[in-house]
Amino acid sequence: MDGNGRWAKQRFMPRVAGHRQGVESLRRCVRACSERGVKVLTVFAFSSENWNRPNEEVSGLMDLLAGALAREVKPLHDSGVRICFIGDRSRMSDKVRSGIDQAELSTRSNTRIILNVCFNYGGRWDIAQAASKLVAQGQAVTEESLAGAMALAHVPDPDLVIRTGGEYRISNFLLWQSAYSELHFTDALWPDFDETSLDQAIADFAGRERRFGKTSEQLSSPAQQHPPALNTQAAA
Ligand code: IPE
Ligand code: MG
Repeated sequence: MDGNGRWAKQRFMPRVAGHRQGVESLRRCVRACSERGVKVLTVFAFSSENWNRPNEEVSGLMDLLAGALAREVKPLHDSGVRICFIGDRSRMSDKVRSGIDQAELSTRSNTRIILNVCFNYGGRWDIAQAASKLVAQGQAVTEESLAGAMALAHVPDPDLVIRTGGEYRISNFLLWQSAYSELHFTDALWPDFDETSLDQAIADFAGRERRFGKTSEQLSSPAQQHPPALNTQAAA
């Protein structure tokens, strides 16, 4: 969700006003995704590196999170949203931590859409914490065990990753999980990202051919899509 600061600057407003507008945009995006049948929406709200921003902005973002937890959880719950927070909670205040626990607990049985809020998150952090967990449990580190130990193990890998704000970077988001995701970049600043922007991203995604390492011909010929068991074993 990039571009809040620039959105505010364009209007001669403080950066935190852009973040406030970003919360509005997120509320609209959750609703739009839910209406379109998206089952999982994962947003990058605050990165491990964002602590390095000016104190005033960091505390503004923490206040915004605390406020959003107080105001937004009930309406989200009423519309069937399950909220999960992904990230290192050790640096958060007790107030924010208990708000997060409460949001997760009260919405845990909802099934319409899962909203993963990555907060104090980094893709490298997730890989490292998953590996540490396995090592501490004396388990072998394999692709499967690592995937199962990740903070996002409760959802499938993302089909589509959208970056707003005109930057062409992944910036430590979903490093492990986005191995085969389609990427969509848009110049829209996050507060301006609306239903039309979402539909453009989905249309872009729908036009892609996802091969997962196969050839285009394999995808178009049904007989070759699922190779016979013998071939599979031979390849193994
Ligand atoms: C929001 O956008 C991302 C957060 C860390 C909340 P930015 O604050 O990075 O906005 P720009 O890039 O300065 O416009
Ligand atoms: Mg930015």
